[in-house]
Amino acid sequence: MPRFRRPKGTRDLGPAAAARFEEIRETFVDMAWEMGYRLVDVPALESRDLFARSTGEDTEIVEKQMYGLVDGGGRELALRPEGTPGLVRAAIEEGWLGGHNGERLAYFGPMFRYERPQKGRYRQFTQLGVEFLGIPGPEADAEVIRLLVSLLGELEIPHTLKLNTLGSPAERAAYTETLRDWLAEREMDLDEADRHNIARNPLRVLDSKREATMAATARAPRLDETVGDESAARFARVRGLLEKAGVDHEVDSRLVRGLDYYGHTVFEAVGREAAQDAYGGGGRYDGLVTALGGPDTPAVGFAAGVDRLAADGTFDDPEPPLWLVPLGEAARGAAWPLAAGLWEEGVAVQVAWNETGLRKALGRADTAGVRWVLILGDEEAEAGEVTLRDMAGGTQGRLPADAAALVAAMEDAE
Ligand code: HAM
Repeated sequence: MPRFRRPKGTRDLGPAAAARFEEIRETFVDMAWEMGYRLVDVPALESRDLFARSTGEDTEIVEKQMYGLVDGGGRELALRPEGTPGLVRAAIEEGWLGGHNGERLAYFGPMFRYERPQKGRYRQFTQLGVEFLGIPGPEADAEVIRLLVSLLGELEIPHTLKLNTLGSPAERAAYTETLRDWLAEREMDLDEADRHNIARNPLRVLDSKREATMAATARAPRLDETVGDESAARFARVRGLLEKAGVDHEVDSRLVRGLDYYGHTVFEAVGREAAQDAYGGGGRYDGLVTALGGPDTPAVGFAAGVDRLAADGTFDDPEPPLWLVPLGEAARGAAWPLAAGLWEEGVAVQVAWNETGLRKALGRADTAGVRWVLILGDEEAEAGEVTLRDMAGGTQGRLPADAAALVAAMEDAE
């Protein structure tokens, strides 16, 4: 039994999982860059109030899941449960706003939510995401959604894109009241948590994943049928743009998203299996920048859970580097400058310092999936040579212990 264990709901990523995360990060950053996004990085620690004012005091995330703390100076801080508020705070504070064609910001980093841990749901998890600030039109919504969908495509993750509109802030507020009254009449079919939400935040009841609640609210008033003509037309334009870009989607009138700042378009990419959690989601949040004290700036964005993307995609294991195996005291002395020379040449090499016998060393290299092994015995070391073995064919030959000559020999054999 180890003395210390990782906190419940956190993960230790071993080399293979960490390599997957890195591959996803690179794929995402490249794809976002191609659409004009610049990668930024903001603190994981922010003032608690930032999330209360943006994500929303009455949301599940702020009410129940936030890791709050008081620092040595008595400041009330929180580990960020999501990226959007911090990004918007930074955009205002650092002046990343006001570009004539908007600002496209991308991010990748840890988030924290005190949730009931299960597969794909952790207390520390990694999100990648983008925030597109400054463009009011439906084109910006379509751009952001297209990026999420293309990323899932590139990672070979089958998914369904769900889309809804929450309408304007006034329409959302009016719908919330209608829904509150409708739910209040059916209180007896709902559980205690739902009843608590009817008063505080009725949209949360629609967001519930509890079977009984979903059944009880199946005939709840529909958002997409209550919004006005202007919002409906806007939504139709987003859908039209997605169709033109070949982005398949479904309208899901129950999709409300559990964060307070959204209006108009909201979306989620979900797995094809029933009741599977979302890979990513987002929406438009035109009022947030002003709510946080910035200039009037329309905005739209998404975030995706990297832990979930890493679990379900298809990936190639990273190739192990070449092994350099010094066998003996003199060989160990000669291995060091040879390895340094190879690193200088940009060759990926790891030195197997603990090996003492050839047969076992080759066995271990084989198990590790190594293609090339450089064997350096004391005799080779004295002659200034090294044996290069191709594990694929089992052939080997002596060569000068010179980085450039070895690189040339390996290139010839490829
Ligand atoms: P969200 O839907 O709360 O949105 O989270 C986005 C994604 O983060 C989820 O779809 C999921 O893949 C992942 N995620 C959330 N919680 C967990 C968890 N406990 N464990 C593992 N993965 C998780 C947002 O966070 C918004 N900030 C998205 C956004 C950006 N909206 C506008 N801009």
